[in-house]
Amino acid sequence: MAEPVQTPHAFPTRIFSGIQPSGGLTLGNYLGALKRFAEKQDEGIETVYCLVDMHAITVWQDPVKLRQQTREAAAGFIASGVDPARSILFNQSQVTAHAELAWIFNCVARMGWMSRMTQFKDKAGKNSENVSLGLFAYPALMAADILAYKATHVPVGEDQKQHLELCRDIAAKFNNDFGVDFFPITEPVIEGAATRVMSLRDGTKKMSKSDPSDQSRINLTDDADMIAKKIKKAKTDSEPLPSDLEGLKDRPEARNLVNIYAALAGMSAEDVIREHAGAQFGSFKPALADLAVSVMGPITTEMNRLMQDTAEIDRILGEGAVRADAIARPIVDEVYDIVGMIRSRKG
Ligand code: AMP
Ligand code: TRP
Repeated sequence: MAEPVQTPHAFPTRIFSGIQPSGGLTLGNYLGALKRFAEKQDEGIETVYCLVDMHAITVWQDPVKLRQQTREAAAGFIASGVDPARSILFNQSQVTAHAELAWIFNCVARMGWMSRMTQFKDKAGKNSENVSLGLFAYPALMAADILAYKATHVPVGEDQKQHLELCRDIAAKFNNDFGVDFFPITEPVIEGAATRVMSLRDGTKKMSKSDPSDQSRINLTDDADMIAKKIKKAKTDSEPLPSDLEGLKDRPEARNLVNIYAALAGMSAEDVIREHAGAQFGSFKPALADLAVSVMGPITTEMNRLMQDTAEIDRILGEGAVRADAIARPIVDEVYDIVGMIRSRKG
């Protein structure tokens, strides 16, 4: 029997993920990211979660609002089940290793790789001469976030897939350029029924905190009435639900509501369709609204409660930053060494 292939360097499983505090959190963030962050933690895996405030400022952020949104996002993580005692939860700018490693990666990544990033093209649009340099370099900072912890797995929504491929390319080029097996080739973890929650107004657009229409999304801060109202007003077609997923192929709005239902109920989309085959939206939407209110209501209540004590949130983030730094600092120090920087300063 052939010998099993030996990987030269086994990297212990560690999860890292981040969310930008650039606006309120949405149902998309909850189903695509937060809910799964809590599940990974509950599986007993080492989990490091970050509010990426340095990514947020790649587009203009009002300083007062940025602070508020960072605290609110931290409350959103905790209310969604991320336990700061079992996961490391902190904001990026408090751990300088991220910015330091990002610079090294700016010198590893190639202009051509960065120019192919669809999120940059979408965000810059026709205005590419006028956007910040940081917006272009954004994915190198994201790779630094992940690799400063040698994270092996990154749970994200579908929209982050290309950025994670770039992270793998950066890790592989660094390892290859310096002849080391230092960084893991990180695996994206894109799973579940709601890896891409769509806008409630347009089933071809992602639900996003930056959409100008508040009707397009469910915010983690929306109360029960608002959630129910938005779901009942969601755009749909006039057909009843089909009996299988194939029947939803060209019906993006209907497909989206089925996916949301599935993710909220912890069911597969197939099972939702089987259960609701032939239902009109007049009955499916109220059922979905009830389900959404029952899942999201307690999260909103807990978030509001946590927001009463912002000093406690700041304390949690500070403590998380100290724990994050203890992992990242030695890794980034080793990177400087590999790259050939003199490290002779005492203290
Ligand atoms: P962002 O809000 O862009 O910082 O995204 C934070 C996390 O939420 C990332 O893992 C995204 O992939 C995920 N996410 C954001 N919007 C959605 C969405 N509409 N559906 C699923 N996941 C999403
Ligand atoms: N770019 C991610 C987003 O907008 C946020 C992010 C920054 C991130 N750094 C990360 C996600 C590291 C995962 C891992 O959704």
